[in-house]
Amino acid sequence: MIEDIFSNIVLSSDERVNVLEIGTGNGDGTTVYINNILKSRVFDYKIYSYEGIDECYQKASSFWNSRFDPRVEIINKFFCDKQDIKEMVLPNIIGEGDVMTKEHYTKNYNKIIETGVFEGDIGYTPDIILIDSWRFCHPAIVNKCKKYCDKNTIFIVEDDFRVYGEEEILKKYFNLKNLKRYDGDLSHGTWNFITFNL
Ligand SMILES: C[S@@+](CC[C@H](N)C(=O)[O-])C[C@H]1O[C@@H](n2cnc3c(N)ncnc32)[C@H](O)[C@@H]1O
Repeated sequence: MIEDIFSNIVLSSDERVNVLEIGTGNGDGTTVYINNILKSRVFDYKIYSYEGIDECYQKASSFWNSRFDPRVEIINKFFCDKQDIKEMVLPNIIGEGDVMTKEHYTKNYNKIIETGVFEGDIGYTPDIILIDSWRFCHPAIVNKCKKYCDKNTIFIVEDDFRVYGEEEILKKYFNLKNLKRYDGDLSHGTWNFITFNL
C-alpha cells in the first residue's frame, strides 16, 4: 500500500526530502516502509517520526538505534496541540463494538491531555506527512501540521472506516485538495489510506 501511494508521488532528487510521520508505533511498520522507499529513490532525506506513548517509543527507539541510521529520528512527543484534542477530537468520538467504545476513546484522550508531552515548534517544511495515529485524532494532528506545511506538502493519512472515518471528520475542518483514495484489504492487514494537499 505505502509503495503504491509513493509510486504516485514525485520526489525531489536534488533537495532534501523531509518526512514527518505521526504514529511510529513500535517503529517496525510504516517507518521501515518509508525508509526503504526513500533510500532507493532520493539522494537526501530525513524522517522525523513521532510516538507519544513511552512504551512504544522505547521499542521504536531501540529498533532504530540498532540500525545506526541518522536519517531516521524517533521523537517521544504527541504531535498535536492539547487544546485541539478537546475541540477537534473529543466531540467527534463515536463508539463501536464492545471494546472500541466511546468511553474507551474518551478515557484515553483525556489521559493524554493530563499526562502527555506535546511538541512545540518544528523548524522545517515537511514534503510528506504520514499520519497513522489513533482513530479520531487526525484533525488535531492535521491542524498542527497546517502551521508548517505548504501547498505542495502531501498528506498520507490512514482512513480507518470509510462511512464515518478520518476523511469525513477531516472534511469538517479542512478543504482536502487533490484527494485520492487507496482501498486497503483488511484480510491482508492493510487499512484504507487517503492522500491530499491543503
Ligand atoms: C496504529 S499505531 C502506529 C502503527 C505504526 N505506524 C506501524 O505501522 O506499525 C498508532 C500510534 O500512534 C501514536 N499516536 C497517536 N496519536 C499521536 C500523536 N498525536 N502524536 C504522536 N503519536 C501518536 C499512538 O501512541 C500509537 O502508538
